[in-house]
Amino acid sequence: MMDAAELSAYAYSYPHKSSYGPLQPPIRIADAWSGGDVSNLSLYIHIPFCEMRCGFCNLFTRSQPEEDLVERYLDTLLTQMKVVRASVPKASFAQFAVGGGTPTFLEAGQLERLFEAIETNTGQQVSRMPTSVETSPTTATIDRLAILAHFGVQRISLGVQSFSEAETRLFGRPQNPRDVHSAIETIRQAGAFDLNLDLIYGHPEQSRESWQYSLQQALQHEPEELYLYPLYIRPQTGLAKAGLAATQHRSDLYREARDLLTVSGYEQISLRCFRRPQDQKPTVYACQRDGMIGLGCGARSYTRKLHYATRFAVTQPSVHAILREWTEQTERDFEFATHGLWLSEDEQIRRYVILSLLQAEGLSRRELAAQFPDFSLESLEGLDELRNRGWLTTDDDREVLTPLGLEHSDEVGPMLYSPTVRDRLREFTALHAQGAPA
Ligand SMILES: C[S@@+](CC[C@H](N)C(=O)[O-])C[C@H]1O[C@@H](n2cnc3c(N)ncnc32)[C@H](O)[C@@H]1O
Ligand code: SF4
Repeated sequence: MMDAAELSAYAYSYPHKSSYGPLQPPIRIADAWSGGDVSNLSLYIHIPFCEMRCGFCNLFTRSQPEEDLVERYLDTLLTQMKVVRASVPKASFAQFAVGGGTPTFLEAGQLERLFEAIETNTGQQVSRMPTSVETSPTTATIDRLAILAHFGVQRISLGVQSFSEAETRLFGRPQNPRDVHSAIETIRQAGAFDLNLDLIYGHPEQSRESWQYSLQQALQHEPEELYLYPLYIRPQTGLAKAGLAATQHRSDLYREARDLLTVSGYEQISLRCFRRPQDQKPTVYACQRDGMIGLGCGARSYTRKLHYATRFAVTQPSVHAILREWTEQTERDFEFATHGLWLSEDEQIRRYVILSLLQAEGLSRRELAAQFPDFSLESLEGLDELRNRGWLTTDDDREVLTPLGLEHSDEVGPMLYSPTVRDRLREFTALHAQGAPA
């Protein structure tokens, strides 16, 4: 059985989509959502294209796609949006997010079509709700940003990874820091966006000095938010193929960054997320409680009882095959979910507890009881161990990770996984290591 450390690379969602399997029979999307609360959903749209495949990245994305594939993808996505709208007509959203891949791989005109379709199909205005779009330094161009500003996108998240050119080569994402600085300036000029910057730490050859340098460079731009990603060497990525293994010094880099950002006025929201308090917007969406509709190939959707997604892959031939198949789907195909996982009440509770604990504000016992009145938290195996390790503390109504617990967030989740999900992840990892498509 995989232990918590091995599972930690899968910890950012529960259950991770590696534990999904074919749904037999397929489930009508309309049935999957019927009877559930659809008044406060998140809409996620996946754009699986990038200019290059970075050495660390295992996201579902295709680099350098043919132009006609991108256009066909967008057409298919808009068809899927219409079908899902008809299947869940009462869906009302509390937030929109467009991620990837690199959404701004789409040209300005394609982004415009996408945002028009979002507004038409949801009946809600982008400018009136939290909307986030991911971008990369070379695709954050003035014409694309002008479209995002026109629709009133609130947050732009830029993948920087590092401000050191030598480090970006180590990460398998060669990049000129001048392009990053100039992308940030373009974003700042194009609109009043909240800016997030993504950085990565933990490459064995990444020095403390160059990590500090990247952080300082990022801080100079006064981003509203910073996401610091611990590097995981994931199967079938460029770094894994090069035989790279993670090292312990990742923890030292984490602590230095956390301390620097805290004294620089940022509040820690989770292991990865740091935000300036004056820029925190009240949000009504709670990921542990509210559902998500994912559109596009590779996107996940979460109802309370069923999680579903398209199949996914990492290697380029498999990604390409899945994408091509997806763009050939008909309206009728989009009425069904074919790949996913049913969540028992036990899994729903585990998910609620895990996602709550991974946020610095922790788990409210009162809110948990409102969601699951018959459940007693003390019966959940794993919590005592968290307390014994000094990772969890009780604060009035809340169970909250200690600073040490927050640092070990990626191991906290797996300690609370069900045996079923552990087994499914183990099977997936064994298959994946042999190169099978996901
Ligand atoms: C969708 S990308 C961001 C936007 C854009 N594609 C780019 O890279 O510029 C999401 C983020 O996940 C992080 N990430 C992806 N794979 C990772 C890995 N194996 N280890 C750590 N962080 C990773 C990177 O920081 C990346 O910026
Ligand atoms: S890190 Fe971003 S640009 Fe690089 S392959 Fe992943 S999604 Fe694409």
